[in-house]
Amino acid sequence: MNIWFASGNKGKRKELAAILPQVKLRIPADAGIDFDPDETGTDFIENALIKARALYKLVKQPVIADDSGLCVDALGGRPGIYSARYGSKDGSRLDGAERNMLLLKEIGDASCRSARFVCAMAFLFNENRFFAVQETLEGEILYEPRGAGGFGYDPIVYLPEQKCSVAELSEELKNKLSHRAKAARLLARAIL
Ligand code: IMP
Repeated sequence: MNIWFASGNKGKRKELAAILPQVKLRIPADAGIDFDPDETGTDFIENALIKARALYKLVKQPVIADDSGLCVDALGGRPGIYSARYGSKDGSRLDGAERNMLLLKEIGDASCRSARFVCAMAFLFNENRFFAVQETLEGEILYEPRGAGGFGYDPIVYLPEQKCSVAELSEELKNKLSHRAKAARLLARAIL
């Protein structure tokens, strides 16, 4: 089965391919498609569907799309859907380490440190039929970054059950526990 994955991220494609070995996953770059739709939704599911529908229009074949981010309770759920665009410096985006420092500054020494990574994933069969799921990875915001693995907010999110930060997990374990892996497994059960 051929399915498109509406992402420019080869790491995500690799993760998803491991969960959907029966499927040949193509990303827009494979076909020279320049793909960067405006994520104008108000929640993760809406944004995943915006990406899926935008790619479906171009390829007219089944599409998977995802949207993810970190929601921090003490910050009213921010950065949430704006996780990739959180903070700015001289009008340009911060890098991952800068975003982490900004978030640590914003949360300060608040005693409520609960947070979760969220991933919405949608499978669009055609213009009128889709299946969408949303999953989480629950954690707590650390007081300083820990660990060198993973990407993005991984070094500042502590997983009490694993007794380490997400950035201290092996790649294999992260790919089992992550919000994205859980969403992809749910989706796989529904569509295959
Ligand atoms: P998107 O789903 O590609 O739009 O990613 C949104 C942003 O959320 C990323 O740029 C990261 O900042 C953050 N994010 C999503 N998933 C993870 C994760 O597994 N670890 C760390 N940061 C993540």
